[in-house]
Amino acid sequence: MEILNNKKVISRLKNAKRMVVLTGAGISAESGIPTFRGENGLWTKLSPNELASFEAFYNNTAVVTEWYKHRREIIEDSKPNPGHCALVELSKIPEVFNLITQNIDGLHQKAGCEDVIELHGNIMECYCIKCGKRYTSEKFDEIYNNTLKHIPKCDCGGLIRPDVVWFGEPLSRENIERAYQVSINADVFLSIGTSAQVAPASDLPRYAKRNGALLIEVNPNRTVLTDIVDLWLKGDAGDILPKFVEEYKNVKEN
Ligand code: OAD
Repeated sequence: MEILNNKKVISRLKNAKRMVVLTGAGISAESGIPTFRGENGLWTKLSPNELASFEAFYNNTAVVTEWYKHRREIIEDSKPNPGHCALVELSKIPEVFNLITQNIDGLHQKAGCEDVIELHGNIMECYCIKCGKRYTSEKFDEIYNNTLKHIPKCDCGGLIRPDVVWFGEPLSRENIERAYQVSINADVFLSIGTSAQVAPASDLPRYAKRNGALLIEVNPNRTVLTDIVDLWLKGDAGDILPKFVEEYKNVKEN
């Protein structure tokens, strides 16, 4: 059965020039990376305050460092899934395409997406909280392995942290401004694999819709957005997105 079967939606997709995609943890679930909320989500078993805040890192550096190293190793072993790959294909169709992600796993880039607006940082990168010096994950591991208590420090003595956004921290101004700008100019906005509960990322689909975009959601479960979307494509991103891309190509060509 076709997933694009609503005449209004098809006509708006046909005329769309600017498409924006927002992804969340759900798109990487099929790559073996756990989501945060819902069944088996990380935050159902662990406390964000104890692991994903600057206070936690500062007061309990070894535990937080170990947890991020563990997550990074899972990510390093993971591969993009058909959902990530379909978005690379999708990026070639409209005149303007922007991809915004809340994910820190770099899987969109691994799949071949060149320009990704990473709102919450990237777990592969680290920096010193004192002097700002940047470290690759390889260099970080080298220091980690040579440090007795596994608390990696910079040459200047500062602690080295992952380049991710923790609770209570601001997002990169440049990234969020760009994300707002492309969202309010979108003709079509796809919200994929996100529970849309964490602002400011969760505001983007709403701003897009308010400014006239067709809003499409890809998610196996209902979210706080589902009631306002124009089309809910219910299912896993790895299953839905390749079909969406094929059908969207046909819509554009015919
Ligand atoms: P969540 O864990 O809150 O939501 C994941 C969403 O993905 C849920 O709505 C699931 O139903 C959906 N999902 C699960 N499997 C899927 C699949 N195969 N295909 C499509 N969707 C699927 O993750 P996010 O919304 O990304 O922030 O969470 C937002 C932020 O909260 C994260 O970036 C992180 C977290 O705390 C920080 O760490 C700053």
